[in-house]
Amino acid sequence: MPNWGRRIDLAKNPRDVVGLMHCIIPEGEKGSAKVTHFRVTREVNLENLRLIRDGQCGVKSGTYARLVVDGELMMTDTTNEFVTNRSIIFGSEGDVLIAGLGLGMVLMVLAKRKEVTSVTVVEKHQDVIDLIEPHLRAEMTTKESKRLTILQGDIFEWRPPKEARYDFIYFDIWPDIGPENLPAMTKLHRSFWRWKRSRHSTMTSWEHQRTIAMRQEERVEEELYARFRGY
Ligand SMILES: C[S@@+](CC[C@H](N)C(=O)[O-])C[C@H]1O[C@@H](n2cnc3c(N)ncnc32)[C@H](O)[C@@H]1O
Repeated sequence: MPNWGRRIDLAKNPRDVVGLMHCIIPEGEKGSAKVTHFRVTREVNLENLRLIRDGQCGVKSGTYARLVVDGELMMTDTTNEFVTNRSIIFGSEGDVLIAGLGLGMVLMVLAKRKEVTSVTVVEKHQDVIDLIEPHLRAEMTTKESKRLTILQGDIFEWRPPKEARYDFIYFDIWPDIGPENLPAMTKLHRSFWRWKRSRHSTMTSWEHQRTIAMRQEERVEEELYARFRGY
């Protein structure tokens, strides 16, 4: 684990994973997947103001990693990514299933959580797995690495073995938050409920509640528009 003059303990301070991934994943490219590092300086303060205005988190100055797949920005390891994944970072326990490997930011924290027994990740792009997995494992202890399984598959087609059961199921495959993600979330939740260990087990998607709220807002706007179109 990189040392910035103090020991990083992700189990105690999960927030330290923000801006950490460039120390773990070097810049590189594999087929359709590319990792680059970028610096945020004071000059982007105006951009930060825009993010804050839009209800997102600003970015502190520092160095970060980004993952691009097929030319599309999938994620960065900035505060916003951490905040939008807090349900799994703080709520996961037992046997966990995640769709979407990305930079492995969430995984780095889950690997250290004593409440987590195993993590199975399903990632669509083999190039992402080849680019990211070896570096994540290099940062894990043998015990942590043994609890982690990364499989290649499209989550819309892949299904767990019949007998598998999960305490936490999490779908994190979208590059952006938006109401257009809701039908896919609903479809996935319907397809995977039978693999929940019990009715108390959690199944959710990246920013699910916010996505529902955005869709509701959109519906209200559509309704108002339809009602007043004639005036
Ligand atoms: C935002 S990233 C995931 C972030 C990750 N959970 C982390 O902790 O860093 C989204 C990932 O989902 C993958 N993905 C996109 N569509 C998918 C699908 N249908 N099935 C599985 N993985 C998919 C992308 O290739 C990408 O690696």
